[in-house]
Amino acid sequence: MESLNFHLSNTKMFLTLLIFQVLSLNLAASAGSHWTYEGPHGQEHWPETYPDCGFQSQSPIDIQTGYVQYDPNLPPIETEGYRDPEGEFTMINNGHTVQLSLPQTLRLHGLPSIYSGVQMHLHWGSKGRPGGSEHQVDGQSFPAELHVVHFNSEKYPNVSAALRQPDGLAVLGVFLQVGGEENPAYDHILQHLEDIKYKEQEIQIDPFDVRELLPVHLGHYFRYNGSLTTPPCYQSVLWTVFHQPASISASQLEKLQKSLYATDEGKMPEALLVDNFRDPQNVNQRVIYSSFLTTPSGYSAGEIVAIIFGVLLGCLGVFLAGWIVAKRIRDGRMQEQKGVVFTSSTRRAISD
Ligand SMILES: *[C@@H]1O[C@H](CO)[C@@H](O)[C@H](O)[C@H]1NC(C)=O
Ligand SMILES: *[C@@H]1O[C@H](CO)[C@@H](O)[C@H](O)[C@H]1NC(C)=O
Repeated sequence: MESLNFHLSNTKMFLTLLIFQVLSLNLAASAGSHWTYEGPHGQEHWPETYPDCGFQSQSPIDIQTGYVQYDPNLPPIETEGYRDPEGEFTMINNGHTVQLSLPQTLRLHGLPSIYSGVQMHLHWGSKGRPGGSEHQVDGQSFPAELHVVHFNSEKYPNVSAALRQPDGLAVLGVFLQVGGEENPAYDHILQHLEDIKYKEQEIQIDPFDVRELLPVHLGHYFRYNGSLTTPPCYQSVLWTVFHQPASISASQLEKLQKSLYATDEGKMPEALLVDNFRDPQNVNQRVIYSSFLTTPSGYSAGEIVAIIFGVLLGCLGVFLAGWIVAKRIRDGRMQEQKGVVFTSSTRRAISD
């Protein structure tokens, strides 16, 4: 009996060890590689492999304008080197987005440090479905969003050194809305999508004016501390989300939604690269600042003036109407008191 017991517990231990080893091998295999937005590797599972994705200062967020704090000391963003970048851009379909490398000669001013260009990429939805942008404003999303990523080149030698630092990165977020006109700046990207349809495909393209991808006004933006919106979700990003969107045409948006695949060439089934946006994350203890005055209701200053003006006009109208009615009643009484008999039509003619 003694030896049998010993034998059994030994087997148990061996099995337990075996299971443990298989499990940890699996974990090691999945680390650093596979993640998606939906399904078994979807965003709610990111923290299992990438712990930072479950931390408290994550991006994107839904910007509630009623809780935003106006900071009059936030200066307009100034871009340097955006208009005429040097070298070629490498444009890659990495299976999660289309990404363009940027030279370090692109710089941002108006932030606590100088930040230099690294890359830019897009997030979008799918045809006929709402959503596409990562950030939202008062619960509203846009059809797409551009992110221009920079690293703190005043404090760190390169992006790898900056990637995990709290003040390491600065990202510009630009909402894309659909307007009537084609946006030629975005065609510099969209016209090449056909050449990188499948995952890991990349091409070199001629540089173009990157400033034209941004909204006209760079003075109105939201500012907060957040994270990369994809694994490993490092909380190293000082976010600038512009209030004014950029516009592309409906057919340009459709091209973005229909050209790329998240799968390797020749691999079946093919999967369209769509809906590559993360859900809004909890704001928690963070303060979201704005460089411009917002109002709790979400009305602009111009709209507020219009509303006050409208209400005043309305009051004046009601007052005038009351005054006219009162006058008519008074006049009517006077007529009756005089005891003069008129037909109703002559009476109206006289009181008018
Ligand atoms: C980035 O900078 C660090 C620190 O100076 C250095 O060790 C590393 O090799 C650099 N990485 C690249 C890719 O240049
Ligand atoms: C971001 O975090 C840093 C360090 O904690 C802090 O000094 C800075 O004020 C924060 N900025 C914003 C916009 O919240």
